[in-house]
Amino acid sequence: MENLFSRRDFLLQAGGAASALGLALLTGGCESCAEQIAHRPIRRNIANLAANDPIVETYKAAVSAMKALPSTDPRNWTRQASIHNDHCPHGNWFFLPWHRAYLLYFERICRKLGGNNDFALPYWNWTAQPSIPPHFWGSGNPLFDSNRFATAIDAVPPEFVGQPVLDNILSEPNFLLFASGASSTQRGPGSYGQLEATPHNNVHNFVGGDMGTFMSPLDPVFWCHHNMIDCCWVDWNLVRHNDNTSDTTWTNFTFTDFVDENSNPVSVKVVTTLLMPILSYQYEPCQADEPAPVGLSSAQSKALQEFVNRGAPVQLKFTQRFAMQKALAGRVGRPVTASIKVQPEALRMALEAGSKQQLVLSLGGIDVPSKPDFFVRAFVNKPDVSAQTPIEDPHYAGSFGFFVDKAAMHMTEAEDTQIGVMVNLTPALRRLGQGGAISKRQTVDIQLVAVPYPRREAKEEQFTLQQLELGIMPSPGIEKQ
Ligand code: C2O
Repeated sequence: MENLFSRRDFLLQAGGAASALGLALLTGGCESCAEQIAHRPIRRNIANLAANDPIVETYKAAVSAMKALPSTDPRNWTRQASIHNDHCPHGNWFFLPWHRAYLLYFERICRKLGGNNDFALPYWNWTAQPSIPPHFWGSGNPLFDSNRFATAIDAVPPEFVGQPVLDNILSEPNFLLFASGASSTQRGPGSYGQLEATPHNNVHNFVGGDMGTFMSPLDPVFWCHHNMIDCCWVDWNLVRHNDNTSDTTWTNFTFTDFVDENSNPVSVKVVTTLLMPILSYQYEPCQADEPAPVGLSSAQSKALQEFVNRGAPVQLKFTQRFAMQKALAGRVGRPVTASIKVQPEALRMALEAGSKQQLVLSLGGIDVPSKPDFFVRAFVNKPDVSAQTPIEDPHYAGSFGFFVDKAAMHMTEAEDTQIGVMVNLTPALRRLGQGGAISKRQTVDIQLVAVPYPRREAKEEQFTLQQLELGIMPSPGIEKQ
């Protein structure tokens, strides 16, 4: 089956007049297109595929073929990984669309070089199967990468990928908190949203080896990991009906880093990536309660109109902010505390049942080592915290990781990365606020605990940060026009 996005005319139009085109397609402006959309390939959960399933066999054959290509061919395995190393956006709102397009063109290369037109990239659902799937192990297996830290029996800890963590992330209605913060340039500084900071970054570092660097696509599990991230975005948009941003800095941004299956360079507008899961592929459900994939349902056509035409003027607009400018250094084994002065009354009102306010912790100016062997747990008002404090503790607010590669970003190890992270404190503060315990205090104390990943030594490692801010904002942070 020919993929819609292999049609150059389509791609050009989709970039320019996505909405008109989408509507024409859906209303029968193009018979064969409607056919293709209805039968677009299904990206399956790899756990449901036998070791010798044609999808798995094709993936193996394609990886072998790419590894065998000369380095002059842009589809060569290392060349594909270098695209990521040299151009991948992280910690900003280009993260999701860039990786979506990267996967789509990689999938097409696999289809061609693996000799199977029905191939669709499978995904690794780490929530349901937290160990690296058996398909990726065994020496001589093209899907194996020998430098991983994780073994076949290690499981990604539930604080990164557990169902409650995913449920919280997927129920975040604000695009900038869900999908990472605004930036005007592809690799510009932004702020890690929760999908990127928690499951995404931590799975990279949990696997380790190539996966802990910007050359991570050298490990075939990279592609299936990102496919799960993409499935989460699809779920957030098309199943839960959350709006992306309509900011044209985002929608009109063009990526020029990819090549198609014939080695031709392609450029992709962000707005085009929004059409991809509606027109070019679909997912076997990666979240509970998701409907099974169907042709083009009326809900999806409606979704196409809503998301592609409109988006929403999403903002991170704090109605009140309590900031603290103070350099802090957190070290593995030594938690740091920051006391943020607040107005107890404002906090009390925001925490009231039915207040529709969110309390967001924003950490800025963070510098971490190039390959951090640790992640960070955030707690609220927990002075006796340690690396042993369980995440079931009511003061626990969340865990986030870093995925930076200073060499790939052309930085020396001594240069500061200055990244940001946003953590939703609302559930923890609501829990602690019961009985007025929070609103009697003049400060909210934030404890940050650096914890080594399983199997990792991280004794001397540290991170520094320049500012902390506790912001109150309306949920979902969308300005009604
Ligand atoms: Cu750009 Cu998960 O990597």
